Amino acid sequence: MALVGKRVAFGRPFCYNENDGYVLSERGMVMGRNVMVTGTGRPYALGFNMVLRYLEAGDRVVATVRKESADLEKLKEQYGDQLIILTMDIGSSDSVNKAAEKLAGEIDHLDLLINNAVTVSPDCDKEFFDANLDYIARAIDVAAVGPMRVIKAFYPLLKKSDDVSLIINVSSEAGSISKCYRRNMIDYGMSKAALNMATMNLVNTFKKERKINIFCIHPGWIRTNGRDDNPAPLSSYEAAGILQGLFDKKWKDFDGPRFITNDGNAYPF
Ligand SMILES: NC(=O)c1ccc[n+]([C@@H]2O[C@H](COP(=O)([O-])OP(=O)(O)OC[C@H]3O[C@@H](n4cnc5c(N)ncnc54)[C@H](OP(=O)(O)O)[C@@H]3O)[C@@H](O)[C@H]2O)c1
Repeated sequence: MALVGKRVAFGRPFCYNENDGYVLSERGMVMGRNVMVTGTGRPYALGFNMVLRYLEAGDRVVATVRKESADLEKLKEQYGDQLIILTMDIGSSDSVNKAAEKLAGEIDHLDLLINNAVTVSPDCDKEFFDANLDYIARAIDVAAVGPMRVIKAFYPLLKKSDDVSLIINVSSEAGSISKCYRRNMIDYGMSKAALNMATMNLVNTFKKERKINIFCIHPGWIRTNGRDDNPAPLSSYEAAGILQGLFDKKWKDFDGPRFITNDGNAYPF
């Protein structure tokens, strides 16, 4: 592959090849921002499309899954070393820590971490009197504690970014306590409210250094189930593009609102 140009980004010199858009080091290795996204195995969902968007932008992407995904493997065939597929279950500290250890043997830093993975209980659509309340703890364990496990385990790599590194916790308007209008989705709402609280705790934890920035976001209403009869206005690919632009804008904004929508405006906690 012929190298056709050079630019400096994140304090490092990059070469690029216009034919395929990859950003290469002078030794021909893929370089660019190192981006990690959790929960990426489903081609119609948001995580996979965030992976695709960052690959298309020439970044190196770490896509995490809990089980093998044929669709991600296809992307791997296309993008080669630019894509690292990492297996981890964010409901288990042991699994997350092992994945972080493995990744530290493959890359030396992370610039962006997108905590996208989520789970809901089988009773998510039920209201209080019908829902099995014993399901709720598991949803919170994955959707709120999970991102914290990931941040803790991958913190050493985030700290090694040459510039400010960014953590995005993908939350939801359903996690807003002050705007709550639903009677169902109890586990989901509780888990996202807990994720928002976790985000604010970490804002305080990282505040002094101004080295790691962190937001929780409502990503918009998205057809993440891939069904044509889904009334949500955005496809996952469209939403991922909007979010990519938003993250670039907010990367070094340490002082603005922490819970934001996909247009960058504050959403009430
Ligand atoms: N769709 C919307 O309109 C909307 C609105 C607001 C917020 N959001 C948020 O946007 C994000 C993406 O939504 P989505 O609908 O695309 O999600 P999704 O289709 O439900 O995908 C979530 C991913 O998380 C993975 N996951 C589940 N449990 C896991 C675990 N224990 N360890 C590791 N990974 C696990 C799943 O893996 P498997 O494939 O193996 O099951 C799946 O790939 C979520 O955080 C969601 O809450 C979506």
